Amino acid sequence: MIRVALPKGRNADKTLEIFEHFLKTPLHFEDRKLILQKDNFSFMLVRNQDVPAYVERGVADIGVVGLDVLEEQKSPLVRLLDLGFGKCRVCIGSPNSYAFSFANPNLRIATKMTNITKAFFAKKAMSVEIIKLYGSIELAPLVGMADVIVDLVETGDTMRQNNLKIDYTIMDISAYLVANPNSFYRQKQRILEIQNYFKNALNL
Ligand code: PRP
Repeated sequence: MIRVALPKGRNADKTLEIFEHFLKTPLHFEDRKLILQKDNFSFMLVRNQDVPAYVERGVADIGVVGLDVLEEQKSPLVRLLDLGFGKCRVCIGSPNSYAFSFANPNLRIATKMTNITKAFFAKKAMSVEIIKLYGSIELAPLVGMADVIVDLVETGDTMRQNNLKIDYTIMDISAYLVANPNSFYRQKQRILEIQNYFKNALNL
């Protein structure tokens, strides 16, 4: 049995599509169901940020998760494959009227990615104040709570519509196929077969 943790949303749909071809059978979660079993596979639907928890604890053998989550959580999972979809960027952004510079002292930064932000500014030897938020990050500089944000940018629409600009790209993100290290050694052949199938299906 291979247990797969999928991040609810578009990345789960894309992954299931490839598993449909791999298993040669349709794969659809019924209505609000969170588990789908087919042949020797069990698929579970979880929040993107929760994928590492399920895979690290070994209740899922493999999973699909954004690189931002792996980096933010300093996750020790085996990174099997960069899937090349779910692309976005971790960016520094600020109001159009704000002159961003790495020389600005005491930057106040709003973000939900505090570890990525801390690591980035530590490398620049900058002392910054980090304000942890859980969503709607773009609001913080608009109301004067922060100078800049560190946030995910996909289309750029949210920043644009809130009169923010991108000042710097910290990291390019895409979805990764990951494995629990123990599962990987116990079921290496099967997991490598899946990795290879994904590689070919996605022309990687
Ligand atoms: C993410 C991110 C940005 C937005 C970027 O938020 O934090 O706000 O998407 O996408 P765009 O560049 O295509 O506009 P999400 O939708 O996850 O909601 P959140 O504000 O609750 O984090």
